[in-house]
Amino acid sequence: KQRILIVNSGGDCPGMNAVIRAIVKRASQESNWEIIGSINGFDGFLSEPLEIMPLTKERVEGIHIQGGTILRTNNKRNPFFYPVKQADGTMLNEDVSDKLIYNLKVFGFEAIIHIGGNESHKISLKLSQKGINIVAIPKTINNDLASTDYSFGFQTAAQVATEAVDKLVTTANSHNRVLILEVMGRNAGWIALHAAIAGGADVCLIPEIPFCMDKVLKKLKSRYSPDGRGFANIVVAEGAYFKDNKAEIGSGSITHKIVDILKEINFEADIRETILGHLQRGGTPNAFDRILATELGVKAFELVKEKKFGTMAIHKNSELANIDLKEVIDQYNKVDLSHNLIHTAKGIGISFGD
Ligand code: F6P
Repeated sequence: KQRILIVNSGGDCPGMNAVIRAIVKRASQESNWEIIGSINGFDGFLSEPLEIMPLTKERVEGIHIQGGTILRTNNKRNPFFYPVKQADGTMLNEDVSDKLIYNLKVFGFEAIIHIGGNESHKISLKLSQKGINIVAIPKTINNDLASTDYSFGFQTAAQVATEAVDKLVTTANSHNRVLILEVMGRNAGWIALHAAIAGGADVCLIPEIPFCMDKVLKKLKSRYSPDGRGFANIVVAEGAYFKDNKAEIGSGSITHKIVDILKEINFEADIRETILGHLQRGGTPNAFDRILATELGVKAFELVKEKKFGTMAIHKNSELANIDLKEVIDQYNKVDLSHNLIHTAKGIGISFGD
């Protein structure tokens, strides 16, 4: 039998189990394949003894509706810079890719299917350049990968963020407050943009449009003017920043800075903030993400079968395809300012603070 190793890396996202199930189900249509998962990213396949999970058809039954990943994942591991315990007990990062190659050979693996985001694709490319048969699958809630129309996980995350806006709008209204919701997305504003339009925010702040606080204030004041509704909702992407001062991503810094400014100027309404965090990454994938993940799982298996190594399974222009890994590195999908969603959002009065 020919063995394929599935490796997750990077943060988890809804749909990872659907990919795993699809690979296994597709492979099981033929008698000569065996699918095995590495536990906890590359760790499982680099540990002694190996920590791996045979992925039979029975094992993956029904897992496509589960959040997380049955194989677990790890966003701090890179076989080219891997923590190794030294004789004196200290840890040092080393290139252990040869050990990976050795294990693949010794345990009889034909190929790796590597599920990951931008950073993982860099690892995939380097492994491929070392002669490892590898096929990548894109995943991230951020939707920031240029090579593929959508990455699975994104639609589910955008739905969670939208439901949060829905709820915050009602409580903002009841108390005449300004409610600020911070969403994930790293350097891309897709989740924020979708949630702001779908949920009905007044202000949407995204990394692609550095914002002026004065413009945000203008919008907020209009909400509290005699013609306004008397409450306001802001959706801010974690990577958003002031036009003249780029803040660090994460730790809620941008939200807290906005809150501080509003309090400092004694803004006429109460301000409250919500950092949505990992709620956007957990839980069951929606139908769109299950389908996309399933399509990419089937495609990735077929790429291995056709020996199209060093490529990534993608969904581009509504077609399933594959792309050379060299072409995906550092190719980010950011919100394009001429995107029709920006036009639509502005058309319904959402301010980007620009
Ligand atoms: O890349 C996915 C993502 O959820 C980002 O949106 C976010 O910035 C980051 O991961 C959070 O990472 P962690 O789970 O390590 O805090």
